[in-house]
Amino acid sequence: MASKRKIIIDTDPGQDDAVAILLALASPEIEVLGITAVAGNVPLSLTAKNARIICEVAGKADTRVFAGCDQPMRRNLVTAEHVHGRTGLDGPDLWEPTMPIQDQHAVDFIIETLRSEPTGTVTLATLGPLTNVATAFDRAPDIVPRVAEIVSMGGAYFEVGNITPAAEFNIYVDPEAADIVFKSGTPLTLMPLDVTHKALVTKPRNDAFRSLGNRTGVFTAEMTEFFERFDKEKYGSAGAPLHDPTVIAYLINPDLFSGRHINVEVETTSDLTLGMTVADWWRVTNRPANATFMGDLDADGFFTLLTERLARLP
Ligand code: RIB
Ligand code: CA
Repeated sequence: MASKRKIIIDTDPGQDDAVAILLALASPEIEVLGITAVAGNVPLSLTAKNARIICEVAGKADTRVFAGCDQPMRRNLVTAEHVHGRTGLDGPDLWEPTMPIQDQHAVDFIIETLRSEPTGTVTLATLGPLTNVATAFDRAPDIVPRVAEIVSMGGAYFEVGNITPAAEFNIYVDPEAADIVFKSGTPLTLMPLDVTHKALVTKPRNDAFRSLGNRTGVFTAEMTEFFERFDKEKYGSAGAPLHDPTVIAYLINPDLFSGRHINVEVETTSDLTLGMTVADWWRVTNRPANATFMGDLDADGFFTLLTERLARLP
């Protein structure tokens, strides 16, 4: 088998983050060097707790989990309990995790790991606001060229916003952080709402999770049955959009996805469109391409991969 892909997962669990983490921990192609929690869907204290609960569900309590930034770089935190519930993982019964949180700050872990691992060997898989990554880049610019690639759930163009009419949540929470990352020059692949809204947990797909017969399958089904309420009510969706797992699925099988290498920039000043990702999909400007912006996926192939991997966990 090809060598494992070394990744750091930066995350704000969140039910969809949880499914992404489970997929990563179940997949032999991936080596999770660490999980760095960031404030987003719910405050940092909860995202750091939820990340550990998820590792315990996966039977991977030896995973290193770090707490990172508790608010955006220059703004007050906006959270999404209306989507994820008060705990951030509403749906299944939860518990106080027994596995430890690492003492080191997540930003220091990101910097130290990128400096110590051979250049070009570590991928940053980001599932929440980009505060941790942008803060690391700001504090240690030398690590930027050492990053292999950033694969990030965030943004929207044809699908427009889910937290405001113009902006997707991860970008909206910390637009300045997104602007730093988008302009960093690091190879960047974006999974925007344009593609994640096509990854819907329909009832047959959720039934397939539940009928896996393992703890992970039931836990996943209970999370997505809660998580789907918001999108069903707002969009009339056929199920919960699995935003964040698309990042991990891309790392395992990029052929599941299609998109364009284009210029994508972030609105950081207008109150009306703050956090909007302006994607030059039709290449009408001379702005340099800086991101592969995904627009479509093989949804059945995605769910087949996901379900098969969840079956491997306890
Ligand atoms: O807009 C969807 C994104 O915001 C997902 O990452 C979800 O977990 C929330 O963080
Ligand atoms: Ca998330």
